[in-house]
Parts: sequence; structure tokens; C-alpha cells
Amino acid sequence: MNSSRNHTNHMHLAAFVTAGPGRPGGWRHPAADRNWLSASHYQHIGRVLEEGKFDLMFFADILSVPDRLGNSMDSQLRYGSLGSLRLDPTPILASIAAVTDHIGLAATVSTSYLEPFPVARSFATTDHISDGRAAWNVVTSFQDSEARNFGNDRHIDRDKRYERADEFLEVACKLWDSWEDDALVLDPDTPLFAEPGRVHHIDHEGEWFSVRGPLNVARPPQGYPVIIQAGASPKGRDFAARWSDVIFCSHASLESAREFYQDIKGRAERHGRRREDVKILPMATPVIGPTTEAAQRSADELADLVPPLAGLSTLAYHLDVDLSGLPLDEPLPDVDVPGVQGHYKEVVEMTRREGLTLRELGKRYGGRVEGTFVGTAAEVADGMERWFTEGACDGFTVGAVHTPGAFEDFARQVVPELQRRGVFRTEYEGRTLRDNLGLERPAAGAWRSRRHGV
Ligand SMILES: Cc1cc2nc3c(=O)[nH]c(=O)nc-3n(C[C@H](O)[C@H](O)[C@H](O)COP(=O)(O)O)c2cc1C
Repeated sequence: MNSSRNHTNHMHLAAFVTAGPGRPGGWRHPAADRNWLSASHYQHIGRVLEEGKFDLMFFADILSVPDRLGNSMDSQLRYGSLGSLRLDPTPILASIAAVTDHIGLAATVSTSYLEPFPVARSFATTDHISDGRAAWNVVTSFQDSEARNFGNDRHIDRDKRYERADEFLEVACKLWDSWEDDALVLDPDTPLFAEPGRVHHIDHEGEWFSVRGPLNVARPPQGYPVIIQAGASPKGRDFAARWSDVIFCSHASLESAREFYQDIKGRAERHGRRREDVKILPMATPVIGPTTEAAQRSADELADLVPPLAGLSTLAYHLDVDLSGLPLDEPLPDVDVPGVQGHYKEVVEMTRREGLTLRELGKRYGGRVEGTFVGTAAEVADGMERWFTEGACDGFTVGAVHTPGAFEDFARQVVPELQRRGVFRTEYEGRTLRDNLGLERPAAGAWRSRRHGV
């Protein structure tokens, strides 16, 4: 059941989840469930988000404990900052798949450090055991601290890491295609388990990888799992526009979100894709209250739980810039950003608009409380509807200031408001994540046009 019905006039929702404490203030919140080492924590979040008809939940990831602030892990560990503790997301997805039926399940996996064979195998497995709900957030990573866990002092530079990512995805897709769709016959009488003529070596020899194949898993139910990306640099945007089904981004205003949206849709069209083939979901981290004032008070209380260094620690690793020597009572100066340019643009915009000092920015960044979405459930829904109808997005990646409570509030209060306005589904449309996103199932070989564009 793959239809584009209802997909252009309703938004799509992803949830930003970390297999660990996430927001540095959130884990200190009185309502926070601190059972990050237990599957039940994530299974509960999965059920809540499915109740709220979310398209997917995605687990962010990093392959080190960051040390970019003052060349030390201290601020990450002491304050439970974003990179302090991270479980491997893949087994967590499997545990959520077992207790849910519809929600898409996405893990972040880096193309810079891992090898295509085990990654393709892992996502094919998740797609099978979830009946077609797997998604891969493809990242190229940007931390030297990650490189040091894989035998290198420094991270690969941006151009090279996107070249490697391109070839990585080509190999992964070839592996998913290595079993033809009807290769698994399972006829016990003949006997014919799998048709040998329909399972192929891939014999890939490239600049980065040499892989014979085939995969030892049948073609995934979705053909390829849903591909997510969040490139922000020109190279990254181009990569995302070619390969992604879903794009994550982060913007401090509707205007900058709209500029990004138009840019990416234009790039996708130039690569021969339709605008609706790529869903752009900017971050929204709402704080909801029974009144506007109560929501603002909650936002202030949350900000008070964030020591400035906790947020600056995460900002330092996102930008890949050591901010430790800068005066805390002055604004963030202009800096060269080898890391995430999208996050830099966002904090520069926020700093200028609100006249923030670095100390205040640290608190804000740690809490990730974008002003646009603080208010009653109806006000938050108004803001989201405005971004959606004014061409800034196809939906949102919803963050939680603490878990699971902020997701519960969103699913139970904001989602019904969005449904009442007719901008969000009341039932899942299809069986697979691709169905629910209104995306075609790729035929074997579909990767070719994405690899090079047309
Ligand atoms: C919402 C969002 C979530 C992201 N999650 C991750 C993540 O979990 N792990 C990671 O290494 N990078 C993550 N990134 C960073 C991107 O993958 C990418 O490196 C970044 O946007 C910089 O783009 P560029 O490589 O084109 O400079 C995320 C970015 C955004 C906007």
C-alpha cells in the first residue's frame, strides 16, 4: 500500500532521541526517568510516540566522549552533556521494534569509521524484524576524538569524508540489491530455500572499499531502508539532496529554515528527483504549559538546570572549536567552524537577535529551547503550522527537554491540536515507514541516479 494520498497536506514528525541523557538540563529535571541503561526506558518512549502517530524516532550518535572544551572530557561527564553517555542505538531499535507496530526506527551510523558490509547487514536485519520500519541517519562524523578511537589522530577532511560516504552508500545499496526481491523461495518440498541464480556477488572495487558480496540477508522489505542525512555545508547539502529521503536540520528562525528548504528542494530537482521525494524536518524543541506564562516559567526553570559550561561543552564539540578561552560575559565572536556549520549559523542568529553573552548562550544551547515553540499546546501547534504552511518544512524533528515527559506532553497535547487543524495524520497510512512518508519503494539499481545525480 504505497500511496501519496494525504502526504503533501500533512506534516511528518520525527523524534530526536539519544540513548543516554541528551539535554544537560533534562536529566536533572524532577520528572526525568534516568533509566538510560534499560530497554524499558526506550520502549516506553517508542510506545508514546507511536500513540502520537509519529513517523519515526531517531537515535543520534557519536563514537567518543567529546573533549573539545579545554581539551578535557570533564564538562561532558560532570554535567551529563549530549555526548557523555551513549548506548549503541542498533540493539535499542530491535528492543523497540518488539513492542511497537508502526513507528519508524532510525539509528545514526557513521560512514567514516565503519565498513559497508556490517552496516548494510545491520540495517537490512532491522528492516526485516520490524516489517519495513528501518531508517539510517547517515553521518560522516566530525570529531578528532572519534578518529582517535579508530587508529587516527585526526578526522578525515570534509571533501574526502563525503567522497567516502558516497562510495559507502553505493556499496550498501549494491549489497541490499544483491538478493533479488523474489530470491528467497522457502519451498521445503522441492527443496528450494533460495534461488541461487537470484543472489549475486557485487564485486565492488572502488577507491575506499573492496567488497565481494552478496549480503547474507534477503533484500529489505523497503528495498533500501529510509535514508536520512543532515548535511549543512555545500558539499553536505549536495550529498543530502542526492541520497536522502529525509533531511534533519536546525534553524533559529522561519526565514533561515525557508532558505534551506528552497535550496535543498532545488538541489534535489537538479539531480532529477521530485521535490516531494525529500522530506525536510527542522528541529523543534517545544516547552508546553497550561498557559503561555506557565510554559515560559518552565522554560526558565529548565534553563536554570543547565550550567553554562554544560551547553558550551556541547557547542564546542558541535562546532569543533575550543571555546574555553573566550570571555563568558561577551558575545560569541566570529570563529572558523570546521564542525557543524548549520549549528553555528543558528547560534550566531540567536546571539545577535537576543543580545546573548556566551554564558547565556551556553545555558540556551544546553537546554535547546527555541523561543518559537514555548507556549500552550495550541500556541506550539500554531507555530508549527505556520512553519509548515509558509514553506519552511515538511514537518519537524521534535526534541524533548526531558524524557519521557516532554514526549508525552507533545504526543498527548500538541498532536491532537495538529490533527484538529488537519495538518497531521490521525492514523498511519501504510505498513512500512516508506508508506507513511509517502515515498516509493526503490527498485534494484535505484542507487545509480543518487550516486552521481542525473
Ligand atoms: C538535527 C541534527 C542531528 C544530527 N545528528 C547527528 C548525530 O547523531 N551524529 C553526528 O555525528 N552528526 C549529527 N549531525 C551532524 C550532521 O550529520 C552533519 O555532520 C552536520 O550537519 C554538518 O554538516 P556538514 O558535514 O555538511 O558540515 C546532526 C545534525 C543535525 C542538524
